[in-house]
Amino acid sequence: MKKRILIIGACGQIGTELTAQLRKNYEPHKVIASDIREGDAAMLEAGPFEILDATDYDAIEEVVARYEITDVYLMAAMLSATAEKFPMRAWNLNMDSLFNVLNLAKDKKIEKIFWPSSIAVFGPTTPKEQTPQFTIMEPSTVYGISKQTGERWCEYYHNRYGVDVRSIRYPGLISYTTLPGGGTTDYAVDIYHKALKHNKYVSFLNEESTLPMMFMDDAIRATIGIMEVPSEQVKIRNSYNLAAMSFNPKEVAASIQHHLPDFEIGYEPDFRQAIADSWPKSIDDSEARKDWGWRHEVDLTEMTKIMLDNLGTN
Ligand code: SER
Repeated sequence: MKKRILIIGACGQIGTELTAQLRKNYEPHKVIASDIREGDAAMLEAGPFEILDATDYDAIEEVVARYEITDVYLMAAMLSATAEKFPMRAWNLNMDSLFNVLNLAKDKKIEKIFWPSSIAVFGPTTPKEQTPQFTIMEPSTVYGISKQTGERWCEYYHNRYGVDVRSIRYPGLISYTTLPGGGTTDYAVDIYHKALKHNKYVSFLNEESTLPMMFMDDAIRATIGIMEVPSEQVKIRNSYNLAAMSFNPKEVAASIQHHLPDFEIGYEPDFRQAIADSWPKSIDDSEARKDWGWRHEVDLTEMTKIMLDNLGTN
């Protein structure tokens, strides 16, 4: 098979599990992991690895040519909370990296791109419940502005140059393998670690902060799923809404208390509260379900069990 895959940002929360799954699905030597920093031993042993700066077009072009890459998953990005601290750095990383891969595809050096968008493309004026695919989008965070702009450029490159770019708007992602870094939804991972370690967690979002969330296995299935369907099925070329569950800190705490009855939660909202308040509470993802057969599998009860089981044995 001709397919050769490059993951840019392979050491991050999504990239780690995406790389492992792609190496299971395809021949491992045809799945090239890359990141600005060296991967851990497991990643380095399982297949090729390159140090790669997502903002360096020439370096990406060289790796693409050397390995005869066809598909690129661009997972490098600065997330919402960190981006508020470094607005220009976030804008430059998030946009330059996207233009690098879009231009490689425009020049026919690669065939297909996966680029992640986010619920952060929505803003305070967006309907909050069952947020539709097509709706008001006035993001108020640097991260959201970069994702919204990126979506416009993806669609433009598809329409104008025929670039096969595919994208989904991830909700908050929960996983036990690699920690998230710098997001507003990170509490939903940290809470499990702290529950097992201290039986106690202080949330930086208030108890009413309901946000769309997803277990990582579902997110990986969606990511590889949208990349594997025939191009005609991908009708939306900015980005697809994607949903699995919605919960707030109080609800995830209650699901943990089911297993750890003495677990306690407290609340000390910080600057991330304003970011969470600007985002939807739930997402209507019927277009993804209709166009390319997306179905989620894991709900909050099951996810809590999986998280506690896996983190508890470490
Ligand atoms: N999980 C991300 C964040 O919180 C949203 O895409 O920044």
